Amino acid sequence: SNLDIVGLCGSLRAASLNRMLLKLASASMPQDMHMDIVEWRDLPPFDADLLAAQGMPASVVALRERIRRADGVVIATPEYNYSIPGMLKNAIDWISRGEDQPFSKKPVAILSATPGPRGGARVQYDLRKVLLYVNAMTLVKPEVFIGDAAAKFDAAGLCTDEATRRVVTGQMDAFAKWIAAVQRMN
Ligand code: FNR
Repeated sequence: SNLDIVGLCGSLRAASLNRMLLKLASASMPQDMHMDIVEWRDLPPFDADLLAAQGMPASVVALRERIRRADGVVIATPEYNYSIPGMLKNAIDWISRGEDQPFSKKPVAILSATPGPRGGARVQYDLRKVLLYVNAMTLVKPEVFIGDAAAKFDAAGLCTDEATRRVVTGQMDAFAKWIAAVQRMN
């Protein structure tokens, strides 16, 4: 099999630790998995009036299509004020509004990184809750919380911490098995 994975980063900033973590996940995947990191900064704020008047914006249509045809989605996100960054929630809100539900039965894996010690534990449970509503099949374990992340990536964005590499590789192995299990079930 050749698994097509969409990577979404919950942070828009160029030097994002979570984008570094997402790239580490991409590099840590089994050989038959490939990640395409998809940018979504062009999405407007969700507005039901805009949707009713003009239909889905082209940026939303493209993102929904890309997720629909993927075998799985990996989300690496910061924690903002103990929860989901607004623009990531906005993207999920847009994706969820249509005739279909692109996230339905879609395998999803979550990672988070923070410069502080806890690694984004709180955002992950909020994100899991939101993904429940859209019927995603979110991988349970291993969970990946990367605390003190600023010390674990170098200036080029490469991970210098062996324990981080190991846990991310373990999660991507588990994700490949999870995708196979979900595909058998669907
Ligand atoms: C943060 N940060 C943060 N960190 C954390 O561990 N828990 C939190 O609740 C918050 N809250 C928060 C709110 C807002 C609005 C910002 C901008 C930041 C710090 C955050 O973890 C840090 O800025 C990360 O570097 C952001 O992730 P990226 O952009 O490096 O991927």
